[in-house]
Amino acid sequence: MKKRVKQWLSKLTLAQKARLVSGADWWRLVSYEKMGIPSIMVSDGPHGLRTQKQNPQPFGPDDSIPATCFPSGATLASSWDRKVLATVGKALGDEAKAEGVSVVLGPAVNIKRSPLCGRNFEYYSEDPFLATQCATAYIKGMQDEGVGTSLKHFCANNQEDHRLTIDEHIDERTLREIYLSAFETAVKEAKPWTIMASYNKINGSYACEHPYTLKHVLRDDWKYRGLVMSDWGATNDRVAGLKNGLDLEMPGNNGLNDKKIIQAVKKGTLPLETLDEAVAHVLELIYAGAKHLDPKATCDLSSHHLLAAEIAKECIVLLKNQNEILPLGSDETVLVVGPFARTPRYQGGGSSHVHPTQIEAALPCMEKLGKITFTEGFSVDSDAEDPAAVAKALELAATHQKVVVFAGMPDAYESEGYDRTHMQLPPNQNALITALAKVNPHLVVVLSNGSPVEMPWVGQAEGIVEGYLGGQASGKAMADILYGVDNPSGHLAETFPLRLEDTPAYLNFPGAQGEVDYREGVFVGYRYYDARKMPVLFPFGHGLSYTTFRLTDLRVDKSAIQDTGSVTVTVDVTNIGARCGKCVVQLYVQDTSNEVIRPVRELKEFAKVELQPGERKTVSFTLGYRSFAYFEPRIEDWRVPTGEYVIHVGFSSRDLPLSAKVRVASTRPVPKVFSLNTPMDEIMNHPLGRKLVMDRLSHSPLAAAGTDKMVAQMMTTMPLRAVVDFSQGLISEKDALALVAALNKAEKT
Ligand code: BGC
Repeated sequence: MKKRVKQWLSKLTLAQKARLVSGADWWRLVSYEKMGIPSIMVSDGPHGLRTQKQNPQPFGPDDSIPATCFPSGATLASSWDRKVLATVGKALGDEAKAEGVSVVLGPAVNIKRSPLCGRNFEYYSEDPFLATQCATAYIKGMQDEGVGTSLKHFCANNQEDHRLTIDEHIDERTLREIYLSAFETAVKEAKPWTIMASYNKINGSYACEHPYTLKHVLRDDWKYRGLVMSDWGATNDRVAGLKNGLDLEMPGNNGLNDKKIIQAVKKGTLPLETLDEAVAHVLELIYAGAKHLDPKATCDLSSHHLLAAEIAKECIVLLKNQNEILPLGSDETVLVVGPFARTPRYQGGGSSHVHPTQIEAALPCMEKLGKITFTEGFSVDSDAEDPAAVAKALELAATHQKVVVFAGMPDAYESEGYDRTHMQLPPNQNALITALAKVNPHLVVVLSNGSPVEMPWVGQAEGIVEGYLGGQASGKAMADILYGVDNPSGHLAETFPLRLEDTPAYLNFPGAQGEVDYREGVFVGYRYYDARKMPVLFPFGHGLSYTTFRLTDLRVDKSAIQDTGSVTVTVDVTNIGARCGKCVVQLYVQDTSNEVIRPVRELKEFAKVELQPGERKTVSFTLGYRSFAYFEPRIEDWRVPTGEYVIHVGFSSRDLPLSAKVRVASTRPVPKVFSLNTPMDEIMNHPLGRKLVMDRLSHSPLAAAGTDKMVAQMMTTMPLRAVVDFSQGLISEKDALALVAALNKAEKT
């Protein structure tokens, strides 16, 4: 603890301490100026500042100060580029400093369990490795500027429906491998100044007072020493929260919880040391925040607008490019259809809503690059078709060389606070796209949306470009990609399923009667589609380029390792096309041991690589313990089964041309507990068990029966007690119990 913090702590009364562990107002922490404890401020996050200097209130985008609206989380993750995330973190840090903000409330790292979650546009991925890598880079980028982050929402905040009370039933392995893993590396490596505990319950306890997630995992296992704050209004039992590691309640509580804290300390049900620990975390944060405040700090918002365009370009995903319809040629006549070309949808609704410094739409930027005619074609305010607008669009489409439709989800379709109930675009847009494609097959659909949509017209559009919610400069970025000023290099950070009914959580989202079962377990996103060998619309990791890349010469430096060791994987990638571009080399690991049920393959590494035409680069990855491990609840730890692992390398989860093998030996066996109910195959696999059975039964009718394939198969799953019965006294119950005791003893040594 810092000396200054110790001094402050020693001077505070119980009442002052109780007051300090909740907010002074919507955005400020409590200050005691006379004692030299200054005031610091926090602001949303995550992809732009939402700082309310006047009239602090929960959702008021219009009265927040103008700030750069960068691409939202879903968009940023599609860059698959740690540098991009770090750059955004740094830029946001600069803006925060200039506004006197000490902590930005982000990044938001929750896993996309279902494409329906209303806040998916803020979240990174369906994959915990990709999500935590994005968060790590963002946090480091911002905190290196002296501005804190709040990694949120801890944890398993995967739906908006009943988000303040929903009780999620999640098994421990799934929690660890999927939902907590999204936070883990970011917590351990980037050390966020703060973490925001979420609204929901997990297995019966609120996240803001959760003994397992907050105390056991975050504090004890991951050794997190920063501050944990509640999401706004998420505190349920304040005293239980303090006991389990929730330091700061946000916003304030009108003194109600202060009284409860004081009473609990006086009654001895809340140890003073526990309160002091929370107070110390708050004071440490105030100290760190105030230390970096610089009244002279300024920020060049116009350069941030240009940066926002550059960032957005890295994130755009070219989903389809049949007959090389893209890039558009400057001399081609192009009909642009759809109001989003003029009035972009570039961010989502709720607490992340930013008051942008300016907005750059695609249409004027495209007009500078080519021969453009524009028509509305549909309205964003209504789902009904406008026959006159449709007729005009169809007539124009017939006379232009190419048609580009700016389609997407209207604001009301997705937002914080509620989930979607379907995955469709408005029907008027789907109908128009289909009709236009009939008139002019050279059709490109550009999408603005925060999460996947079904595409009934996928076979008719020659080109499909996913822009997600690209921030205030998304129009400039899109125009440059469409005209080939820049080469697209984004890849999907989530699967686009064919239809909602295919999705892993379809039968259990958003739950009922206040509860939701995570029955799909670890099979989230591509882990599910791959295990079920299901066709998808576009797979996780997919993204095209205007050039072509080739992977060759995959090598692993060792053919066998112990799980405590590591293996270096190297692969060469060459740009065999005619223009400069960036590719994303993705590495997935497959456990073939079959010891436990696991996803077919899981993403364990990736790298974004820029290559000139003809250029070749070597990419290297190091795989260690966690690259091969699953979470084993029986030993409460990560474990690697002994066996052969296949390392797949490619450009998407379903485009993995190269593979290599490595044998990994486990150093962490799961201690077995034998009993009379242990199946015979497990008994026979142990030398002691095998000896007893062979000694007693090798000449018996049972052994003769065991030679028949069907009977042998049946016997392998037969418990020891049944063999005792069937052996007609050749193996007595006493023998069997002695064997069980000997086997259990051997396991322990
Ligand atoms: C959201 C948080 C946000 C907070 C403050 C909550 O409703 O869940 O993400 O940081 O409000 O605006």
